[in-house]
Amino acid sequence: MLSLARPLIHAAVLLAAVLLGAGAAVGQTAPAASAPAVAAAPAETRPDESNAERAKSQPGNNAPFWRAVRGSGEQAGYSSLPGAEKGTLIQSFQQYPGSRFTTAGEAWRQVRNNWIIPYGGSLLLIALVALGLFYWRVGPLGGHIPDTGRKIERFTPFERAAHGANAAAFVVLAISGIVMAFGKFFLLPVLGGTLFGWLTYALKTAHNFAGPLFAVSLVIVILTFIRDNIPKGSDLTWIARLGGMLGDHEIPSHRFNAGEKLLFWGGVFAMGLVVVASGLVLDKLIPGMDYTRGQMQIAHMIHGAATALMMALFMGHIYMGTVGTRGALDGMRTGYVDEAWAREHHELWFDDIQAGRILAQRSAPPVPPIGAARPQS
Ligand code: HEM
Repeated sequence: MLSLARPLIHAAVLLAAVLLGAGAAVGQTAPAASAPAVAAAPAETRPDESNAERAKSQPGNNAPFWRAVRGSGEQAGYSSLPGAEKGTLIQSFQQYPGSRFTTAGEAWRQVRNNWIIPYGGSLLLIALVALGLFYWRVGPLGGHIPDTGRKIERFTPFERAAHGANAAAFVVLAISGIVMAFGKFFLLPVLGGTLFGWLTYALKTAHNFAGPLFAVSLVIVILTFIRDNIPKGSDLTWIARLGGMLGDHEIPSHRFNAGEKLLFWGGVFAMGLVVVASGLVLDKLIPGMDYTRGQMQIAHMIHGAATALMMALFMGHIYMGTVGTRGALDGMRTGYVDEAWAREHHELWFDDIQAGRILAQRSAPPVPPIGAARPQS
C-alpha cells in the first residue's frame, strides 16, 4: 500500500513544486517511478553523483529529494499568489541549538503533540478531578444564615450583559478548542472520520468567530470590574486563612474576595490578554504582520499553552459560580442577592451598604409588571 502511495505522493509534490516555479529548488533524484523531467533545474541542484549512487544503494531513501524541495532556506520559488512565503513549498531549514529536528515545522509539530496536548490535557483532567474531590469532601459553601427577604443589587444589567456575552463566547471557544485539540482521542473513534471532520470544521469556524467576541467582551469585563478588584489590606488575611473555606465561616471581604481578585488579575487580565493577542494573530486580525509560518507557529504554541492554563483556572471559577457556592449564580442571573448572602460571603461589602457608603440599588430599579400593586405615595 505504502509502496503504491509513495510514487503518487512524489509525483504530486513534484508537480506542485514545478507549478510554484520551484525549479530552482527541485532537482535531486526521485525514485524512478516518479522522476519527471527536471532538466531545467540549474546546474547546482541537478542530480549529482552521490544522489544517483544513493538511489541505487538505498532505493527507498528519498531524503535528498525532500532536501531539494525544501531548498536552502534562502531561495523561494515563484508564486503569483500574494502573501508571505507563498513561493516556499516547505518551511526552510532551521537548526535550533541542541535540536534534533530538521525543519521548524517538525519542531513545532513535536512541541504540539508531545508537550501541549498531553500536558494541557492532563492539567484539565487534574483540575476536573480536584474540583470533583473538593465537592465530594467539602460540598457547596454558604447557606448558613437564613434569608431575610431583603435584596441587594449585586450586578447591574450592564455588568450581567458584559459577563454573559463573555461567558457565552468562552464556552463556545472552550468546547470547540477542546474538540480541535483532543477530539481525535475521544470523539474520532466514536463518530468516525467523516462526521468528526465536519464537526471539527464547523467548530473551528465557530472558534474563529467567537474569538473576536470574546476579545471585545473581555476588555469590557476588565474595565467594568477592575475597580472592585483593586487589592486591599483585608485580602492578605483572606489569603492567609484560605478564605476560611475549610473552617465554619468565611473571612470578611469587600465586593470581591481575594480569590476572585487573584482570578481577575491572573486569569482574566493576564492570561486573557495573552490568549486574545495570540488568538488574534492566528485569526490574522493584527494589521501590519506578515503571518509567516514561524510567526504562526509561535502564536499557536503560546495560544495552546495559555488557553490550557486559562481553562483550568476558569473551571475553578465556573465551579464556584455554580454548584460550589449556594446562591452565587442567582446573583449573576437575576442581579440580586439576599442580605444574608451578602453578609455571609462579602461582609465588608455588606457593612459598606448598611452604612450607606455603597448604594444597595445602583441601576434604575426594575419596573413592576403592569397590574402589580404600586406603592402608594
Ligand atoms: C459559564 C461560565 C461562567 C459562569 C457560570 C460564571 C459565573 C459567575 C458568577 C456566578 C459570578 C458572580 C460571583 C460573585 O457574585 O462574587 C461571576 C463573576 C465574575 N466572572 Fe464569571 N462565570 C463564567 C465565565 C466567566 C468568564 C469566561 C470570565 C472572564 C474571562 C468571567 C469573569 C468574571 C468576573 C470578572 C466576575 C466578577 C468577579 C471578579 O472580578 O472576580 N466569568 N461569574
